Amino acid sequence: MKKLIIGNWKMFPVSAKEARDKFTAIKKEAAALRNVQTVVCPPFVYMGDLKKLVTGHRCVLGAQNAWTEESGAYTGEVSPDMLMSLGVSYVIIGHSERRALGETDELVNRKVHAAIKAGLTAVLCVGERTRDADGEYLKYIGEQILFALKGVSKKDLANVVIAYEPIWAIGKNAVRAASTDDALEVTILIRKTLADLYGQGSFNIPVLYGGSVDAQNAGDFLAKSQVQGLLVGRSSLDPKVFAAILKSAEKTAR
Ligand code: PGA
Repeated sequence: MKKLIIGNWKMFPVSAKEARDKFTAIKKEAAALRNVQTVVCPPFVYMGDLKKLVTGHRCVLGAQNAWTEESGAYTGEVSPDMLMSLGVSYVIIGHSERRALGETDELVNRKVHAAIKAGLTAVLCVGERTRDADGEYLKYIGEQILFALKGVSKKDLANVVIAYEPIWAIGKNAVRAASTDDALEVTILIRKTLADLYGQGSFNIPVLYGGSVDAQNAGDFLAKSQVQGLLVGRSSLDPKVFAAILKSAEKTAR
């Protein structure tokens, strides 16, 4: 199975030119890697521009969010169908930074359904705010998954990716990067939760790790945490660093 490496650019960079330059540099590196599927998720405003730069299947575009309806009176929102018609393939749903803005489990569930219905692959983000000694956080993550996948059929599961992103390990205020064992423990929980829900049909769903991934730890997560890929924030904005992550993914895929 190819490794899936997704760059989440968040609200960067500030100019379209910078976005084009970064994407072009990343695309060049990604094009040489046979065993890696690279996805770049830029802000919506750059999507049309960057779409023109996509030349093959090895480096494609994803969005950071999408609304629940096809079209309508939803000021400021973008529909999964609009993204689809632009040639976008993936959409991040339920990122912790969006949940912090008020996105509920119920809304995340509706967004997952809408994304799949439009033909996008939903990259569902789950993860705990803090860890406790009693393992309550595992229950919390399990429930996030159950909620988000409510009503999603076995067949539709082919369009779902789950990204484990512990909130305490994300962004520049991260307490620390998760250890490969921290990530492995939750990968196993996610696999078990999916198997309980869908049986064998769930075995092919990619599980990703995200949170302070960099060129130094990327290979370790891929080799030791039983994940099929990575969701990368800050390190995806520096094409050189992101290229190093992509290359270590190529190595572990072999
Ligand atoms: P980070 O962000 O890699 O900058 O920690 C990851 C994410 O929020 O997806």
